[in-house]
Amino acid sequence: MIGLKKINIIDAKDYVDQEVEIGAWLTDKRSSGKISFLQLRDGTAFFQGVAVKSQLGDDLYELIRHLRQETSMIITGVIHEDTRSHFGFEIEVSGLKVVGESEDYPITPKEHGIDFLLDHRHLWLRSTKPHAMMVIRNEIIRATYVFFNKEGYIKIDAPILTGSAPEGTTELFKTKYFDKEAYLSQSGQLYEEAGALAFDKVFSFGPTFRAEKSKTRRHLIEFWMIEPEMAFMHQEESLEVQERYVAFLVQSVLDNCEYELSLLGRDPEILKKYTKLPYPKISYDKAIEMLQESGDFPEIQWGADFGSPEETYLAEQFDQPVFILNYPKAIKPFYMKPHPTRDDVYICADLLAPEGYGEIIGGSEREDDFDKLEAAIKAAGLDPEAYDWYLDLRRYGSVPHSGFGLGLERAITWITGESHIREAIPFPRLLNRLNP
Ligand code: 4AD
Repeated sequence: MIGLKKINIIDAKDYVDQEVEIGAWLTDKRSSGKISFLQLRDGTAFFQGVAVKSQLGDDLYELIRHLRQETSMIITGVIHEDTRSHFGFEIEVSGLKVVGESEDYPITPKEHGIDFLLDHRHLWLRSTKPHAMMVIRNEIIRATYVFFNKEGYIKIDAPILTGSAPEGTTELFKTKYFDKEAYLSQSGQLYEEAGALAFDKVFSFGPTFRAEKSKTRRHLIEFWMIEPEMAFMHQEESLEVQERYVAFLVQSVLDNCEYELSLLGRDPEILKKYTKLPYPKISYDKAIEMLQESGDFPEIQWGADFGSPEETYLAEQFDQPVFILNYPKAIKPFYMKPHPTRDDVYICADLLAPEGYGEIIGGSEREDDFDKLEAAIKAAGLDPEAYDWYLDLRRYGSVPHSGFGLGLERAITWITGESHIREAIPFPRLLNRLNP
């Protein structure tokens, strides 16, 4: 006998009035003596099953009435439209077989505190909000590959264990590498520069680690970064790549994650504004003036780095992401190229997300002159020996080149409108959290 069509909940719309089979888990249940409403999930979506006693018989109905949350099962039934529900479809249960029983499930439909939820992150991932977040994360990763492949970039993977530190030595995780010392990568950039000189346009996508003792809504200890690097490209052109890339990410989420955005309560109309190009650009000097004129930052002086309040204030003055150009040298890393007519700033930019989500991109044109780069390494108190391979890139056919890094979880947090970055990664690594 040919069995029923096995489908995923997400495809229910294609099977209206047909009898199908679905492997699912029970997330919640409401039962009366005659009818039970089962909230079901199968990993692709969430919907309701309706079980009617008079159709199923006493024995099966009693079994259904006593199912525990997170019991796994094979359900058969007919798909119907259900205009009252969020999802739009439901299943009228005709049969049900338990696959795995569940003990008392710790995450109940009632409210739980964040620490409890993070302790149970391995289970919490099954709930609607984390589910929507992870689907959107996947969409942003997918769109990243589409964008850069379409534009002729090659993915060059940077190592995670390294002997050189691009972003400063204070936030490094050290580890033993046999009889030597190694660091967990803070950025793949230096390797992407080697890649750009070998393959013209490259990008990396991988985990990066910062031993920052900051406990904020925007910082993870382990986060994922997308780092494109382009040979024969100056900063202006790189900024254009950056804004097209970010607008493409937003558009892809709008096109492919309508259901997930609705689960999160994120208004697509807000996101549509962020697909309009170009994004505004202001200088760091102008940003300082705006902060001073606001009256909210009485202490701020030229040369200061921006914290979260400054970034939020600046971003609020615009409707779209905003680039802040040419930061003072003292607050940026050694590899950036100095401005041609000013020796106090670099040719660099950060992209600040709207709505107070902070910096999502940091990027710059790179110093391409051997002598100047070597001097910058020494001035930063770093050992030129450790960077000898990096200096080779300026010894053998150096070219102007630029690149940037987009923090994946920052971008997800902003696009989904979530308040904390810990929701944007399956298993967050935070100051006090290494498990699960
Ligand atoms: O500005 P950053 O430090 O730049 C770099 O690492 C460059 N080497 C990138 C490049 O030019 N290839 O970091 C880039 C981005 C930030 O804009 C932010 O989005 C994210 O990485 N980021 C963090 N995200 C989460 N938690 C943290 N602790 C982060 N630190 C930076």
